[in-house]
Amino acid sequence: MALIELSHATKAYWTDRSKRRARIVLDDVDLAIEEGEFVCLIGPSGCGKTVTLNLIAGFEQPTRGSVRYRGREVAGPGPERGVVFQEYSLLPWLTVLENVVFALDSCGAPRAARRDTALSALRAVGLAEFADQRPNLLSGGMKQRVAIARLLAMDSDVFLMDEPFSALDEQTRAALDASLFHLWRERRKTVVFITHNISEAVLLASRIVLYSGTPGSIIGQWRVPEDLPRDAGSPEARRLHAEIRDLMPASACSFAEDA
Ligand SMILES: Nc1ncnc2c1ncn2[C@@H]1O[C@H](COP(=O)(O)OP(=O)(O)OP(=O)(O)O)[C@@H](O)[C@H]1O
Ligand SMILES: [Mg+2]
Repeated sequence: MALIELSHATKAYWTDRSKRRARIVLDDVDLAIEEGEFVCLIGPSGCGKTVTLNLIAGFEQPTRGSVRYRGREVAGPGPERGVVFQEYSLLPWLTVLENVVFALDSCGAPRAARRDTALSALRAVGLAEFADQRPNLLSGGMKQRVAIARLLAMDSDVFLMDEPFSALDEQTRAALDASLFHLWRERRKTVVFITHNISEAVLLASRIVLYSGTPGSIIGQWRVPEDLPRDAGSPEARRLHAEIRDLMPASACSFAEDA
């Protein structure tokens, strides 16, 4: 049994208040994700990547079809499926350590061990020495590391990451990509990672899933061999990059198209 299974998952939203018209944004998506995979979802803006992640997180339910986690219908969010959002999501009035402890409070972790668990998660992302700082003193990259530490502390099985590094400069993003990849290899969490960036997907993923334009459906999948040289300059990575680029639909709201 797959860890996560979307079966004919379809999502539609009403387009008018009287609920007479609806627009399908995700159309009949079948996607089975095995434990330990690093799946990158890629596709043009508006193709339903975030909607897919929201279904797996349990923030929303499919209009048709099903989304299952360990064989059970997903009925709502849970700490086993942790989320890292694109926007920074730390509570500014709490310290870095308290932010991680807060996540543990809300998922009912044993009280006595919360501080130690939180500290050890911060250590794993290289931020133990910032434990007592407020988030406003951290850079964007450090804030996203804290968000990752929260999932490590909660011991989430699945990391759901919606363009977590896209607001960061190129150098910081590359550093965070490298640490995330290292963490994944070490701990074998299951990662579902949304990106617009083909190079990032090629560097990180064990599988890349390409979506069509709206309504989103899957139009291509690539398994990335674990031993693929994770270096954008390698011939294997360049070949894969070119293959995906050639199939990537133009974004429905690209400036080129509007011109
Ligand atoms: N709550 C909602 N109500 C109505 N429409 C929605 C809602 N959430 C998403 N949509 C629509 O569903 C479509 C897919 O949205 P989604 O956010 O999944 O796109 P995306 O692939 O993540 O795009 P981007 O790369 O720009 O983040 C979009 O057209 C969006 O407007
Ligand atoms: Mg999105």
